Amino acid sequence: MKQYLKYDEWSVIEDGFDPNNHEASESIFSIGNGKMGQRANFEEKYSGKSLQGNYIAGVYYPDKTRVGWWKNGYPEYFAKVLNSPNWIGINVTIEGFELDLAQCAVENFTRTLNMKEGFLLREFDAVLDGNKKVHVKAKRFVSLADTENGVISYEVTPVNFSGHINFTPYIDGDIKNEDSNYDEKFWNILNAEASEGAAYLESQTKKSDFRCGFAMRYKVLLNGKDAKYKSEVIQLNKWVGNHVELEVKQGETVSLEKYVGVTSSLNYKNEDLKNKAGELADYAINKGFNQLFSDHKEKWAEKWVHSDIRIKGDVAAQQGIRFNIFHLNQTYTGEDERLNVGPKGFTGEKYGGTTYWDTEAYCIPFFLMTSPADVTRQLLVYRYKHLQKAIENAAKLGFTDGAALYPMVTANGEECHNEWEITFEEIHRNGAIAYAIHNYIRHTGDKKYLEEYGLDVLVGISRFWSQRATFSPAKNKYVILGVTGPNEYENNINNNWYTNKMAAWCLKYTMESLNWVKENNPTRYNELLKKLNFKAEETERWTDIVNNMHFPYNEELQVFMQQDGFMDKEQVMADDLDPAQRPINQYWSWDRILRSNFIKQADTLQGIYVLEEEFSKEEIERNFNFYEPRTVHESSLSPCVHSILATKIGRIDKAYEMYLRTSRLDLDDYNAEAHEGLHITSMAGTWMSIVEGFGGKRAYDEKLYLNPDIPEQWEEYAFRITFKGNDLEVRVSASEVEIISHAQNTIELYLYNNLITVEPQQSKTISR
Ligand code: BGC
Repeated sequence: MKQYLKYDEWSVIEDGFDPNNHEASESIFSIGNGKMGQRANFEEKYSGKSLQGNYIAGVYYPDKTRVGWWKNGYPEYFAKVLNSPNWIGINVTIEGFELDLAQCAVENFTRTLNMKEGFLLREFDAVLDGNKKVHVKAKRFVSLADTENGVISYEVTPVNFSGHINFTPYIDGDIKNEDSNYDEKFWNILNAEASEGAAYLESQTKKSDFRCGFAMRYKVLLNGKDAKYKSEVIQLNKWVGNHVELEVKQGETVSLEKYVGVTSSLNYKNEDLKNKAGELADYAINKGFNQLFSDHKEKWAEKWVHSDIRIKGDVAAQQGIRFNIFHLNQTYTGEDERLNVGPKGFTGEKYGGTTYWDTEAYCIPFFLMTSPADVTRQLLVYRYKHLQKAIENAAKLGFTDGAALYPMVTANGEECHNEWEITFEEIHRNGAIAYAIHNYIRHTGDKKYLEEYGLDVLVGISRFWSQRATFSPAKNKYVILGVTGPNEYENNINNNWYTNKMAAWCLKYTMESLNWVKENNPTRYNELLKKLNFKAEETERWTDIVNNMHFPYNEELQVFMQQDGFMDKEQVMADDLDPAQRPINQYWSWDRILRSNFIKQADTLQGIYVLEEEFSKEEIERNFNFYEPRTVHESSLSPCVHSILATKIGRIDKAYEMYLRTSRLDLDDYNAEAHEGLHITSMAGTWMSIVEGFGGKRAYDEKLYLNPDIPEQWEEYAFRITFKGNDLEVRVSASEVEIISHAQNTIELYLYNNLITVEPQQSKTISR
């Protein structure tokens, strides 16, 4: 754990420059707008350790798979969201000396991520050539209003001298991914041209042939007015820019404003990329920094109205939750059904920027309640569009007749992960994808989704489960053998309780959904039967599986067993582990981990969380008390589920302890890995720990339930949610709960299980 950032309610602040923290800060201070994003790299040259990172959503490269021992069925490639051309660069020289914070004395350094308004700010004094001091202020944002524009204002003030200052704003196409499997570069450069005041670079991904255009314009101001300067055009094969030189007197401020337009072949024809990028850059320079910023700020204000959580009496917790919400909102905006939420978003290369089950299991609950319904709908449609690939993926593994196995990791619907125990065995992901449809419908009431897209996906998934489950005469039950559950510290196990539970749930839900469409839209139902080549008899086996699935259970302990044989393992508690050997995945051999009973992340408890209405409080308590001490939480996705269930069973202290682990995971760099990128998808889990945990929000039978509790460390907290199109705010203190309606309709909800109604724009306060 590393605490070098200042507490502040709305900003993340780094005070003083320590190169050892630089790469973690590059991740933490990342900015993005759903369409593109980047690490908080310096604009000027930095020769110290740094991970350069600019990413454009949806642009990926199929890097040839690298494994020690090839297994049939492995995908040929791992799709990676690419580190793309660097458009933020502005080299600076002062009286001939290059500004490089790794080489000069740095004073009064601050780096600020303003989460309220969505910008990155850096200020410092640098001393060059022994005694020449300059003050630098650099502010940049990628616009949430003009989503193909990025803007930088870079100011330099000579503090104790007058002299020459040179800026070189540039675009660099000679870029590499750190995680390249064969040390290759993934881009070809198709065009690199520069002219007075402008530059353009067009790059093309090898193999996948995505093209991206980057156009830049700039303005130079002296004390806020157009400056006179000499300039020179620089045009290299992969690097384009301008060289600007001017005389600046002591105390004067010279600023370079860099305006960039970014286009990609996802949105434009190849032949239009250049003109469009140029138009975007022209548009930005004409609009100007202030207007661009004010439009961007307004968009952020809208985001915050709907997704903010306020916590009184605990600045660290307040900053933590806003940090999580901020990053989620800048990673995914729901404007494009081809995009999704990578576990690291736009903050690093790990996990390839691709889609995991994290989206359905974690991110969807967040977007469902903080954004208009169509944002989540896009995430569902993303999977609908990949259905054919999921059917092909299942066929590669030997399944037939339209059975669909969604990939564990994907950029375009094809599986691109290649560890057999995950790729072939972590089939529970199919359950999360089906459950997300149910979750969406119960929060929005949009049952039509089933007719339009949902049933196709549900039938494909159910066909898979039906074929994957086999009948065991010995048990006289259906079993699912050879799987990996969410707990990746167990592989090739039989009857993972979570997987079996989700499989049976999917089959049941698909049958209910088929019936619903049959009753409500018989014409569409018949169309779907034809389209899916679906025979009513298919459900006979499904029903048999639902009624006769094997769920491992320990009678003596009265707890669900994570898998067959779990109690044959030596039972050791996580608290008994030597703290010097944690996290165990960094100290133990994989073999030792697999032999142990330690659980990486919520697994049986994940199932109880998802299907909570099926279990009594006593059952939840017994299972929680059994599994929590055995869980090492070595996935960031784990503590939030434990936090939610801990609140449910009244263990608010435990819930708070788990909450802290998730909320400041990256800010305090708990696992010493923030430098690789942030845990974007688990950030949604942090939000869930407050709203579903402390706030006790549930949606059963399309009705809203709230059961708020509050940790004693907090004076008060408030969150805002959307339920079936109605916007409401919930404020909780130790003594009362207030429900404030921002809706046009009367809201009905169950507060502590009592039905209450709140009239439009009114509020209701209830004592706790
Ligand atoms: C977790 C998976 C998760 C992946 C990406 C792994 O460490 O075990 O459940 O999907 O990270 O976040």
